[in-house]
Parts: sequence; structure tokens; C-alpha cells
Amino acid sequence: MTNAAGAISDAHMPAKMRISQATKIYQTKSGGVHALDNVSIDVREGEFLCLLGPSGCGKSTLLWSMAGLHGLTSGEIRLGSDVITKPHPEIAMIFQEANLLPWRNLGSNIELPFEIKKQPPNRELIKKLLKRVGLEGFENKYPRELSGGMQQRASIVRSLAVDPSVLLMDEPFGALDAFTRDEMNLLIQEIWMETGKTIIFITHSIAEAVFLADRIVVMSARPGRISTIVDVDLPRPRPVKLQTTPEFLERVEAIKGMIDHRPAT
Ligand SMILES: Nc1ncnc2c1ncn2[C@@H]1O[C@H](COP(=O)(O)OP(=O)(O)O)[C@@H](O)[C@H]1O
Ligand SMILES: [Mg+2]
Repeated sequence: MTNAAGAISDAHMPAKMRISQATKIYQTKSGGVHALDNVSIDVREGEFLCLLGPSGCGKSTLLWSMAGLHGLTSGEIRLGSDVITKPHPEIAMIFQEANLLPWRNLGSNIELPFEIKKQPPNRELIKKLLKRVGLEGFENKYPRELSGGMQQRASIVRSLAVDPSVLLMDEPFGALDAFTRDEMNLLIQEIWMETGKTIIFITHSIAEAVFLADRIVVMSARPGRISTIVDVDLPRPRPVKLQTTPEFLERVEAIKGMIDHRPAT
């Protein structure tokens, strides 16, 4: 494991997404909230990057900016040569809640992004993805008939059905029980290995970050800054039982020591 503080770039690989000096101050009635301060990251093509940090350190703020869902106060985010100022067709986002519409069945929830864009749904890809995540045959079920894990699988299918090259995930498994979370972590690792998508994944669980990531961006509390970036060199595919091995626990402990535990002000 190696650490490298500050703005990170790898001269040998082109950045898939480039975050340059991202700063965000929310304007509220009681004044400005400085959520992100001068964050620069080069996200590599095809990497699994985890953003790790305590609650309130600006992780979602950064991800929402990367998705083009809100603007930065200063700085810039690029996908290739495109500056991100609004949602981009190559970037999909998955949230902690599956956000399925309760009055639509699974199939029509998954087709919703196509309806919004007035495009024909890619039924062949949807069928393949449903099978891949174990939801084949559930197309006619309604969200209330599905477990939380199944709903989150459906939201993964909905995001991948538009064939994005970048997947942004904001604590996607944070609301699931520990067993389902392990299953989902295995699934997302497999999908990532099969598809070569670039994934940026937010978590406040150090173990989840070490299990999933190629690199972990450790953020410090408000205003959100990068405190360090850690390479995770554990071989893949990583099995769940890896989490009880000394080499895994060693990495978790090392990162624990890097987290800034000062209370947010
Ligand atoms: N829309 C908003 N208006 C004002 N403050 C906000 C808003 N969204 C987030 N914040 C504040 O910005 C900081 C970072 O929030 P957030 O990005 O959600 O952190 P994280 O995802 O790491 O928990 C927090 O202090 C939060 O209260
Ligand atoms: Mg958040």
C-alpha cells in the first residue's frame, strides 16, 4: 500500500474524469456552508475509485457535481474534453435509495430513463442485465413486492441499461443489512470486472472501501478536502472471506489512523 497526498495524477494514463480545484460553498439563509475545498482528482479510465470520509465531509456534494446535478462555486469537472455542467449521457448515478416509482413495475421503472429521453429502450441489454443481477422473471413485480437488495439490483440495471461509461454510486448499499451488503459488493465487483466501467463509489465504511477499491480517496471533515489517496493492491476477484485476513485488516487499520476524527463544526 502506498500513500500519496495532494492532487494526484498519473502521467502515464489519461484521466477519464478530471476534477480540478473543486470548491463548493452552499449559500443558506444563515450564511455560506463551505462543503468542498479545492479538491483535485484524476479518475483513471476503468478504475474503481472509492471516496471515503466521515458524514458531512462533502462526498455527496462532489459526486452530485460530477453527475452535473449541481454546479461548483469554483473549479471544474471534465469527462474527457467535456466540461460537466449538466447531466451527461455517459455518466449514470446510483443513490442509497433505489428510487423506484411505486406505481410502476420493475420493467417499466427500468425503462423510465429511456422514456424521459424519448428513446426506444434497449430491451436486449436490459434482459441481459436483469439476468446478470438475478432479476430475470421479476419484470412484472412492483417495488413493494421486492426486498431492499432486489430494489437496489433493479436500480443498478436501470443505470447500466443506458450503457454509461462512468457509474457514480452514493453509498448505494448503506441501507442494506450486512449479508445483503456483502452480496451486493461481490456483484458490483463482478459487474465492474466484466464491463470495464469507471466506478466512483462513496462510502463511510473503511472495510467496504478496502474491499472494493483500486484507490481510496480519504477526505477530511468540513470543508471537505483530500487528506490522502491510498492504493489497494489486493488481488481480484476479492472474496468476502478476504475481509477476515490479516492483509485486509492491516489495510483497514492503516486507513483508520488517517481519518480525521475532529467533530464537524
Ligand atoms: N443543499 C445544501 N445546502 C446547504 N448545505 C448543504 C447542502 N447540501 C449539503 N450541505 C452541507 O454540506 C456539507 C457536506 O454535505 P455532503 O456533501 O452531503 O456530505 P457527505 O455526503 O460527505 O455526508 C454538510 O455540512 C452539509 O450539511
Ligand atoms: Mg452523502
